[in-house]
Amino acid sequence: MTWSEELVSVQEQELQRELMSTGRMPRHVAVIMDGNGRWAEERGKPRFEGHREGMERVRSTVKTCSKLGMSYLTLYAFSIENWKRPMPEVRFLMSLLESYLVREVDELHANNVRINAIGKINALPKSVQKVLQGAIERTKNNEGLTLTLALSYGSRWDIQRAVQVIAMDVRRGKLSPEDLSEDTITNYLQTAGMPDPDLIIRTSGEMRLSNFLLWEAAYAELYVTETLWPEFNEQELYKGLASYVLRERRFGKTSAQIAPQQEQAQPRSTLERILNALK
Ligand code: FPP
Repeated sequence: MTWSEELVSVQEQELQRELMSTGRMPRHVAVIMDGNGRWAEERGKPRFEGHREGMERVRSTVKTCSKLGMSYLTLYAFSIENWKRPMPEVRFLMSLLESYLVREVDELHANNVRINAIGKINALPKSVQKVLQGAIERTKNNEGLTLTLALSYGSRWDIQRAVQVIAMDVRRGKLSPEDLSEDTITNYLQTAGMPDPDLIIRTSGEMRLSNFLLWEAAYAELYVTETLWPEFNEQELYKGLASYVLRERRFGKTSAQIAPQQEQAQPRSTLERILNALK
């Protein structure tokens, strides 16, 4: 059974319809999944229990985004800075990632999800690299949701790497400094070919980007929720999406200039009513 064939409540169907009928759904959502450790500590459990529960939210978030017809979902699963964590926690996160890919690849493939990765992939354990490359290869022709896992990722690292390659291409005569544009930089980043994120969700209330998609986030809408990642269920995702579709994105223009687009928006009350019913 594929995800689209699964039964969903009437209210959820209505909410999905309302969200999609706004014509303003984000193409690309990126998530900073934070709060696993706090979730566990609040329950007197070891931190790794928070990561394990966090993996369940990865599964549900991917499924909901896919069912909503989203094009890109990017998850910040492990930052370059996360290597500084205690070795047992790093090892646990690596094994969780590996088992997620092994366990989920069939279902992701059956649901037309294309798996992708950004980050310093060669820093990952060989066994993780192997399953990751296998999953990427197996799903490369899928045309549904592109699920990008940011692994051993840091945005400054990616920008520094891109600048280095640009400089080498200038030296080789492949690129002239005069032709260097914003698009050139975009195209040398690991996110080349992906649209910029429209919406960045951060769980657990911290108000920062933590070295995530710094170049790409120039015009992203930010949604920060106090909810810890292990509790970020479908309803929480819908709340974030509802908040996004009700916003006015001006990209530097005035409100009056984009007013015709504004008129298409669903009345706030419809979405709020359904969201309340889902609680
Ligand atoms: C941040 O919470 C979370 C991480 C560093 C790891 C994220 C990993 C997962 C959600 C599970 C595995 C992922 C995949 C893709 C299968 P934290 O530990 O920093 O929490 P804290 O700030 O409360 O300590």
